[in-house]
Amino acid sequence: MLAGDLWSHRRPDPPEAGPRALQPRRRWGAAPGDQRGRVRRRDKTDDIFREELGEAVRKFSRQSVNEDLWGAFASSVCYHRSAFDDFSGYESLAKRLDELDAARGTRGNRLFYLAAAPDQFEVILENLRRSGLNKGAQGGWARVIVEKPFGTDLPSAKHLNDLVEGACREADTYRIDHYLGKETAQNIMVLRFANALFEAMWNARYIDHVQITASEPLGVEGRAGYYENAGALRDMVQNHLLQLLCLTAMEPPTGLDADAIRDEKVKVLRSLRPLEGEAVFRHVIRGQYGAGSINGKRVAAYRDEANVDPESTTETYVALQVNVDNWRWAGVPFFVRVGKRLPKGGTEIAVHFKSVPPVLFKATGEAVDDNVLVIRIQPDEGVSLRMSAKMPGSSLRIEPVKMDFHYGTSFGKPTPEAYERLLLDAMSGDPTLFARRDEVEEAWKFVDAIHAAWQTRSDDLTFYSAGSWGPTEAEELIKRHGTTWRRL
Ligand code: BG6
Repeated sequence: MLAGDLWSHRRPDPPEAGPRALQPRRRWGAAPGDQRGRVRRRDKTDDIFREELGEAVRKFSRQSVNEDLWGAFASSVCYHRSAFDDFSGYESLAKRLDELDAARGTRGNRLFYLAAAPDQFEVILENLRRSGLNKGAQGGWARVIVEKPFGTDLPSAKHLNDLVEGACREADTYRIDHYLGKETAQNIMVLRFANALFEAMWNARYIDHVQITASEPLGVEGRAGYYENAGALRDMVQNHLLQLLCLTAMEPPTGLDADAIRDEKVKVLRSLRPLEGEAVFRHVIRGQYGAGSINGKRVAAYRDEANVDPESTTETYVALQVNVDNWRWAGVPFFVRVGKRLPKGGTEIAVHFKSVPPVLFKATGEAVDDNVLVIRIQPDEGVSLRMSAKMPGSSLRIEPVKMDFHYGTSFGKPTPEAYERLLLDAMSGDPTLFARRDEVEEAWKFVDAIHAAWQTRSDDLTFYSAGSWGPTEAEELIKRHGTTWRRL
């Protein structure tokens, strides 16, 4: 479903370039206001819609478009317009889909992608249910993809989950968290469980702490309407970063099926030490960007961005210390930070190992750096391991060196876009890379407690210049553990 329009295409299994071609990566809220289900003034023919899609594919596809393939695919794409609250639009859609099934011999499968504002979900789901579209035709399936944000807190997420459940079984509900579709996030499990080397050391005995960073030079980019009420904690930590933390901290699942993996992630979320009341002010730093410069270009303060309250207390940066209170991670802090208008873009997980006993090389006066395993989620996807090595020469000098794996050079092709994988998985019925109801709710529980403390006062909000690495308080937070944030 796109911007107040209903569309369908006939193939359950489109060619590989299909999913991304239809849905170039989308940033929530980046779309103009017509996301809100207003009836468009101008109706569109199938042909006009196909042309528009074609233009978008040519513009955004990371591979050149095979025009024959595209032509064949596009001829199967249809356009159907309706306002979200117009029941007759759903009835006519159902009729049209039945006709397409009959004419093209498709099997009655339906996939609805709710890339709509969350306040429209209720009416859409209700109309899907009333019109019978929530059931596949001729014994086929019907699934619903729901975009983030999945609620704004635990009660709203529960309400939304109940609504979705009223229309669609949990097994047919696909809650998108596009970080799970990133190849590098999927590799975390392989790295951990397909290599004896790492899993043996993946615990409190050998690991000192873990740093998870998502840094963006971008600002709020015209999404203030959404971002003002979300802030970095709800926008990124509740979903993407807690998901990365879960993949890093979870126990080996009993199998590779969706529920086995999601069961383990939920256990991690349930083991998070709650951050509540005063603990929030000790362990969570929130910041907001002021004016500054990024790559030599002056940029405005958050409060001066369009549609932002000039006295806004919305955080554009958050750093927190999270503890996973279970056997494996007892005493190992996870430092998580995310920020907008930072000097460099990048997402990574850095696992810092404990120091070697300070005995052997002490007399030489040489400092030995700790091992650090860095999983680069993006860009320059890959993994590197920092080790110590003796510098060639007659004296003993110890220097840090790096073992580096780059996806680009090792596999010779760039990693696919997250949405390509996720849309294909939803079509083929594999929910592994989508969030389950309990995961989403547990994550909200954790985040809500932090928000509740923030509601009691706002004097802890700090400001940082755009183009800097965030508030100095965040440096203090990690310094208490005797370390510093890794420079990306
Ligand atoms: C989105 C957030 O979910 O993720 C954005 O709403 C953020 O604020 C984006 O910019 C980051 O995604 P990526 O894939 O660019 O890291």
